[in-house]
Amino acid sequence: MGRPPFLFNVTVKSPIDIRMNENKFAKKIVCVGAGYVGGPTMVVIANKCPDYKVTVVDISEERINAWNSDELPIYEPGLKDRVDKARGKNLFFSTDIDRNIDEADIIFVSVHTPTKTFGEGAGKASDLQYIEQTARRIKENSTSSKIIVEKSTLPVRAAETMASILHSGANSVRFEILSNPEFMAEGTAIRDMEEPDRILIGSHDTVTGNAARDELLKIYLKWVPREKIITTNLWSSELSKLVANAFLAQRISSINSISALCEVTEADISEVAGAVGRDSRIGSKFLEAGVGFGGSCFRKDLLNLVYLCEYYKLDDVAKFWSSVVEINDNQMERFVNCILKTMFRTLVDKKITIFGFAFKPDTGDTRDSPAIYICKRLLEEKARLSITDPHAISNAKKDLTGIDGTAEFVENPYEAAKGAHCLALITGWSEYLSLDYQKIFDSMLKPAFIFDGRNHLDHQKLFEIGFNVYPIGRPPLTHI
Ligand code: NAD
Ligand code: UGA
Repeated sequence: MGRPPFLFNVTVKSPIDIRMNENKFAKKIVCVGAGYVGGPTMVVIANKCPDYKVTVVDISEERINAWNSDELPIYEPGLKDRVDKARGKNLFFSTDIDRNIDEADIIFVSVHTPTKTFGEGAGKASDLQYIEQTARRIKENSTSSKIIVEKSTLPVRAAETMASILHSGANSVRFEILSNPEFMAEGTAIRDMEEPDRILIGSHDTVTGNAARDELLKIYLKWVPREKIITTNLWSSELSKLVANAFLAQRISSINSISALCEVTEADISEVAGAVGRDSRIGSKFLEAGVGFGGSCFRKDLLNLVYLCEYYKLDDVAKFWSSVVEINDNQMERFVNCILKTMFRTLVDKKITIFGFAFKPDTGDTRDSPAIYICKRLLEEKARLSITDPHAISNAKKDLTGIDGTAEFVENPYEAAKGAHCLALITGWSEYLSLDYQKIFDSMLKPAFIFDGRNHLDHQKLFEIGFNVYPIGRPPLTHI
C-alpha cells in the first residue's frame, strides 16, 4: 500500500532539504561583501556553527584571493587562527556570486554604505548603490525563497526599498528581510563578535517575519545567551545602529570640546574625565580625549543621521548631531595649530615624524583616520613628513598618493625619528610605549618636541629626557 519510501521522501522534500542532504550542511549561508564586517562575522559564524556552510562572496577578486591566502586582506587580532580552523571545511571565499546566491538559504548583505559624494544628499546621505546592486543580483539569481539579512549600516526604512526591488516583476520567489546590525569595533572584532554586549535582530511582526527571525536566532544561540539577544521591529533595529554610533561619537566630541577648555584653564582632561566618568550614570568608557575620532563609520553614520533629520524637517535635531562632526573637525585642526604655533609659526622644511596612521591601534585600517587630515594640513604648511605605523603603512601610502609635498614611509620608528624636529603621535599603538625615547631624543634636532595626540605616553618621563611635551587637554611640559 502507498508509495515506496524513497519516492515519498523525494516528493515531500523542499529543494532546500534536498540540497541539505547532498551537502550534509544544515543550512547554507552566503555573505555578500568580504570586507571588515563580512569577513570576520562569517569567520565567527563558521567557527561557531560547523553544521552550516558559510560562503563569503565579493566582486573584488583581489580581496577574495587574499581571504584564500595566508595574507588576509585585513589585520584583526585572532582572525587568522579562526580562518585556519574553518576555511575549506565549512568556510569558503568566492567570486562566484550568482551561483552562491542561488544556493543560499540565508544571505547576509555586508557591502559598504559610504557617504554619497555626488548629486542629491552629497556629503551626508548614504550611497546605497552597492545595496541596490546586491538586491538586484539576489533577485535575478534566486530560484528559491531566502532570508535576507541587512548587516550593513543603513538608513532607517532601507528594508522597504530592498523589499521593493526584491519583490518587483514576476518573480514568485519570496524574500524575508531582517535587520541585524553589527556593533563590533575594529581591533577587537573577534572578541566583540564572540562575546557581544548584545545582538540586535529586527523583523516584521508577521508569521514569515517571525519565522525568519527565529532562523537567525538559531545561529546566534549557538554561542550567545538568549538574554543578550534583542528583538525589535525592523525600523527600530535599523535606526538603533545609527544612534549607537552617534552616541559613541558624541561622547568623544563632548570630551574633546572640554579638552579645549582644559588647555586654557590648566585643568587636566584625564582628571576631569576620570571624575565625571565615575558617575555610574555617565560611565568611564569613550571619554578619552584625542585628535578626534576616525574610522569608516562614525562620521558617515552621523552625517547620515543628519541627512535623515533634515529629510524629515527636524532641523534642530539635525543641527545637534551636526555639531558632533564639527567639534571633531575642530579638534584635528586644533592639533595642527598647536604644532604650528609651538614650532615658531613655521613648519617649512621641518621634519615631522608621525607615530601611527591607522584610525586606532590594532588595525591596519586608515579610513577617515585623523592622520589623513593632519598629514595633509602639515604638508600644506610645507613640513617634510616621516610616517611610521606597525600595520598601516601600505594604506597610508595610498591615502597620501597625489598630495603635494614630501612624505616618506618608514617601518622602523627609530629611523623615522632620526633628524626630526618633532614627533606627532596620532595612533596609540602599544608598541610606542616601550620605545627607547632617550635614543629617539638623542637622534632628533633640538629643541625636540612631542605632540601626543592621544595622551598615550609617559609625559613626565619624556620631559625629564629633555623633550618639550604637548599633550591634549593638559598643560604642556616645556624647557623653553
Ligand atoms: P568594506 O568596504 O570593508 O567591505 C565591503 C565589501 O563589499 C568590499 O569588499 C566590496 O568589494 C564589496 N562589495 C561592494 N559591492 C558589492 C556587490 N555588489 N557585490 C559583492 N560585493 C560587493 O566595508 P565594511 O567596513 O565591511 O562595512 C560594511 C558595512 O558594515 C557598512 O555599512 C558599515 O557601515 C558597516 N559596519 C562596519 C563596521 C566596521 O568596523 N568596519 C562595523 C559595523 C558596521
Ligand atoms: C565603532 C563602534 O565602536 C562600533 O560599535 C561600531 O560597530 C563601528 O564603529 C562601526 O559601526 O563601524 P570603530 O570605529 O571600529 O568602532 O572603533 P572605535 O573604538 O569606536 O573608535 C573610533 C574612533 O574613536 C577611533 O579613531 C578612536 O581612536 C576614537 N576614540 C575612541 C577616541 O578618540 N576616544 C575614545 O574614548 C574612544
